Order: sequence, then C-alpha cells, then structure tokens
Amino acid sequence: PRGCARGRDGEVRLAGVPVTALAAEFGTPLFVVDEDDFRGRCREMAAAFGGAANVHYASKAFLSAEIARWVADEGLSLDIASGGELAVALHGGFPAGRITMHGNNKSVQELGAAVAAGVGHVVVDSMQEIVRLDDVAGQAGVVQDVLVRVTVGVEAHTHEFIATAHEDQKFGFSLSSGDAMEAVRAVFAAQNLRLVGLHSHIGSQIFEIDGFELAAHRVIGLLGRIVEEFGAERTRRLDTVDLGGGLGISYTPAENPPPVAELAAKLTEIVASEAAAAGLPAPRLTVEPGRAIAGPGTVTLYEVGTVKPVTVGSGSQRRYISVDGGMSDNIRTALYDAEYDVRLVSRASAAEPAVSRVVGKHCESGDIVVRNAWLPEDLAPGDLLGVAATGAYCYSMSSRYNLITRPAVVAVRDGAARLILRRETVDDLLSLEV
Ligand code: LLP
Repeated sequence: PRGCARGRDGEVRLAGVPVTALAAEFGTPLFVVDEDDFRGRCREMAAAFGGAANVHYASKAFLSAEIARWVADEGLSLDIASGGELAVALHGGFPAGRITMHGNNKSVQELGAAVAAGVGHVVVDSMQEIVRLDDVAGQAGVVQDVLVRVTVGVEAHTHEFIATAHEDQKFGFSLSSGDAMEAVRAVFAAQNLRLVGLHSHIGSQIFEIDGFELAAHRVIGLLGRIVEEFGAERTRRLDTVDLGGGLGISYTPAENPPPVAELAAKLTEIVASEAAAAGLPAPRLTVEPGRAIAGPGTVTLYEVGTVKPVTVGSGSQRRYISVDGGMSDNIRTALYDAEYDVRLVSRASAAEPAVSRVVGKHCESGDIVVRNAWLPEDLAPGDLLGVAATGAYCYSMSSRYNLITRPAVVAVRDGAARLILRRETVDDLLSLEV
C-alpha cells in the first residue's frame, strides 16, 4: 500500500497506524485496507480512461458496503455478478443506475432484483437469459439496457495471449460461430430490451496490450456488422465497447505491470482507430478493473504461532512457519500457485534471512500462504507477518474451511483505523444451525 512505511523502531505503519496497535485492537488474521490507496487508484483509473463512469469497479475482487461507498464517492460505476453483490452494493447506497450486472447463470430472482432496483446495464450471456430478462423487464414495465457478452476467441494472461484458443468455456456468445450475431438479433427482437453495447473479457492479471487489441478489433468488427444489418437509426444507442477487466498488478518486487495511464492511452487509441477504420463513430470505451483497484492497497496481518524446522531431502532443512489463518482467507496460493511478498512487520531484525515456507492452520498440506520466503532466522511465535497485495480475491474467495471464522477487515487512513467488516464468531457459525 502507498501508506506503508517502516518506522525507526523497525515496526511497519499502515497509513500511520502501527501494525501492533492494529493487531491488539482488532486481532489477527486481519485485512488492513489503505483507504487512500484504494481511492487513489479509482481516481487514476478514471483519469486514465477519460471519465469515471466508464470505469466499472469489478466488485467480485472485494466488496463491502463501505467499499461501495468509496467507489460511489469517486464517481466510478460498479460491476456485480450476483444477487449478493447487488444487495451489498445497494446497502452501501450505491446508485443503481451505475451498476452493471454480470453472470452466466443469473436466476430469475436475481434478474428481478436487478431490474427492480433499476440497474443501468445487464450483460446477457445466453439465449435463455435473453428470454428470461425480457420477461422480467416486461413484468416490471421497463425497457432494460443490455450488453451482449461476446467470446472473442482470445485468452490472455500475464505474459502471453492465445488467439482462438478459448472458445471452449462457459461465458458469452461465440463470435466465430455466429452465435453472437444471433444473440444480437434476439435482443433486437425482444420487446423490453435495448442493446447499448458489446462486452468482452479476455482474462485477468494481464500485463500486455496485444490481447485487448485483438479483442477490440473483433468486437468493433461485430459492431460494424450490426450497424450494417440494423441501420444507423436502430443502433443509435449502441455505443459502448466494454473490454472487461484484467489489468495486472505486482504481487512481488519481480513483477512490473505497465502504468495504467500507458495502457489506457493505448486502448483508447486502438478503439478509436478500429472504429474509424470500420467507418463507425467512436464508441464509448468501458473497462472493468477489479484487482488493479482493490489489490495493491491491502495487507493481511498474521501472527506467527509455530516455527518448525523440517528436514527435506538429503539433510537440508526448510522452516515451516505456521500463521493463524491460511487457505480460508487466501486460497490463491493453493489454487493458482500465486506468489506473495511476506515480511516481518512488528519489529526490526538483524538476523540472517532463512528460507521459509509460510503455512496456515488448516488440515491439509496444500494450505500454503507463501511457498518460498526469506524471513529472519530469529522469527518467533508472537511476531507479526504482513502479506502484501491481498486486497483482491482473498476475502471475496474466503471460506469457513475447518469452521475457522473469517477475519475482520479494517480501513486505515490518516493515522486512524476503522472496522469495516467485523470478525466472524462462533455464534455466526451456530446461527446457521436449525
Ligand atoms: N469483468 C469481468 C466480466 C470479469 O469476469 C472479471 C474477473 C473482471 C471484470 C475483473 O477482472 P480483474 O480486473 O480483477 O482481473 N479469482 C481470480 C480472478 C478471477 C477473475 C474473474 N473475473 C484470482 O484470484 O486471480
């Protein structure tokens, strides 16, 4: 986080708040969100993409009512992908008109709640859903603005992208098979739907522009064919090209994502020139970053419980450091082999670094937080470890495995800490029992 600094005593402060004070007041494990970092990234994203409303924070990365208030405050739009995310966003007072609903299998109930709330856009993902949503909108007496999700045949991840290789997945309507055009026709034929844009999402944690470039080219190609078939008048409102999320962040010092402004400038240029080449007016470029807004500004604080040297292979040793959380609050290491930067944050240490593995307290050996870390040799029970960049897809993918309750989330700003999600308790577990 931007507000992270180590004091002269060796203790880390987050937005001016010492980590030992956070641990003492709120307990561990603890998610600590640097509010100015989160808000700053919202602002930079808005500035880079030329208008806050064009930037939709993808709330799947992390959402609470307080987060929804920050996003609303900064003027961004919000993407949701379930009735739960919708309910929390509305609870936080998020303006429904700036919400876009995603999902490949939204229930009639979820569609109904979204339409009743007055969400700005629904991204349709199947023929059945087009029928369902038309019905739901008709019953509510509204015409719902929709985007059609297009599978462009590009799968992009950090350092490479694979064209045409990713048709075989559950999202969207395939462009190459003609399904996307069929979906567009179905939306035009629906009484209570209005097509306002096309949507594509090619992947996550992307560092390079090529995948977006190809996606933009293909989406705008489809836009051209739609305008040709339905004419300029009927497609007057069809002005949004949504290229999804996926902007990558650095989890470890070794990773260097391009600056947001650079990526944004290139994307904007590409969309404008593709549209011009197709003889279309410049569309409105929309993006949906989740990780790039929520990820970097959060630290998870853990307390070390045990330090155990284990002999591995031919006499060499690895230190297993067990912390008080694990795969229930960060599944990403186990699920994706994700890498994180972990540091001793509660004090200074002059001891030599020793190769270490930071593990959780769950009942399986894959419960690893950081596979290979260098941590001081004198690390001991009671020390606090900080794992950086845990703001995206950690709390939001958390579980209650082993009935270990979820951590609290606090926001820090200007030297003060404020609880935004309280720690779960055993009573929360028992409250589900009937
Ligand atoms: N828009 C759509 C339609 C998406 O499906 C996603 C992410 C986003 C936007 C936001 O992508 P971002 O900017 O955060 O990369 N659980 C995985 C990430 C899954 C992303 C799913 N969709 C992880 O922890 O890495």
